[in-house]
Amino acid sequence: MIQWRLYVGRADNVNDMGSAPGKDSGRARVDSATSVSGPVVSLEGVKKSFGVGTLVETEVLHGIDIKLEKGEFASLIGPSGSGKSTLLNIIGLLDRPTSGKLFINGQDAAALDDAAITRLRGRTIGFIFQAHYLLSAFTALENVMMPILLERSRPDDAMRDTAKELLEKVGLTKWQDNLSANMSGGQQQRVAIARALALKPSLVLADEPTGNLDTQATKSVFNLMREISASSGTTFLLVTHNLNLARQCDRTIELLDGRVEANQKSSLGKQGTAGTDFVADSH
Ligand SMILES: Nc1ncnc2c1ncn2[C@@H]1O[C@H](COP(=O)(O)OP(=O)(O)OP(=O)(O)O)[C@@H](O)[C@H]1O
Ligand SMILES: [Mg+2]
Repeated sequence: MIQWRLYVGRADNVNDMGSAPGKDSGRARVDSATSVSGPVVSLEGVKKSFGVGTLVETEVLHGIDIKLEKGEFASLIGPSGSGKSTLLNIIGLLDRPTSGKLFINGQDAAALDDAAITRLRGRTIGFIFQAHYLLSAFTALENVMMPILLERSRPDDAMRDTAKELLEKVGLTKWQDNLSANMSGGQQQRVAIARALALKPSLVLADEPTGNLDTQATKSVFNLMREISASSGTTFLLVTHNLNLARQCDRTIELLDGRVEANQKSSLGKQGTAGTDFVADSH
């Protein structure tokens, strides 16, 4: 099992970052992944428009209500253009809703200034994008260590061990000292997945993380994320066009034209078949 010893005692209690001052305003050393009760993610009537105040203002999310509990492993599906990435960016505190409420670990995002949003995002959320955004001049191992380095400022053996274990989990031990620029697209994406998990976030948002992987790698990466979620209580929201993956998640949320078309626990039933894409899309 992955040892998260670097993380324990690192994160400040996310409750410290709210707008309400009070007795908890000291910087308690509490693991944010386990210290907060209630939903990890809660959206109430979230709307998002682009081009606000212009002639081409367009509303692309029309009032989204979603809750994700601690440890839930959920998928977000829907046709191309239905708003999945827009929604993920809002949940990931990369963008703000035009209206509606967003709570992350009980924190009302609207009550936080930009600095507090950045802190909450850094300590709580791991991202995996379809484009990996690795630093090409660094090795796979160094890329995975990067988020920990940014927190701890100096590399040490425990940090390296954590990164090595994550790379082993994603099947890249042999390539750990390769420059990421010299790795295949699939390998680079697996490094990005390991990197997203390096700080044991309480929430991982993944936008088509297996989109570039072959069937076997898709399975192993999906199982890895599942295992991490189960063993550490990490909540996952996974955007995918692959119904076979979606139906293996605890919950499937389906978007259609910026609205939640379906939100159901356990599975999609018999709609999905192995390897079937959700829709023919523009990727
Ligand atoms: N920055 C932006 N400015 C204007 N419109 C945008 C912007 N970002 C997204 N949109 C629009 O919002 C809608 C939803 O886009 P989004 O990228 O969220 O879809 P998606 O479900 O992730 O699609 P895909 O499966 O192709 O990734 C689309 O109509 C898109 O053109
Ligand atoms: Mg998208």
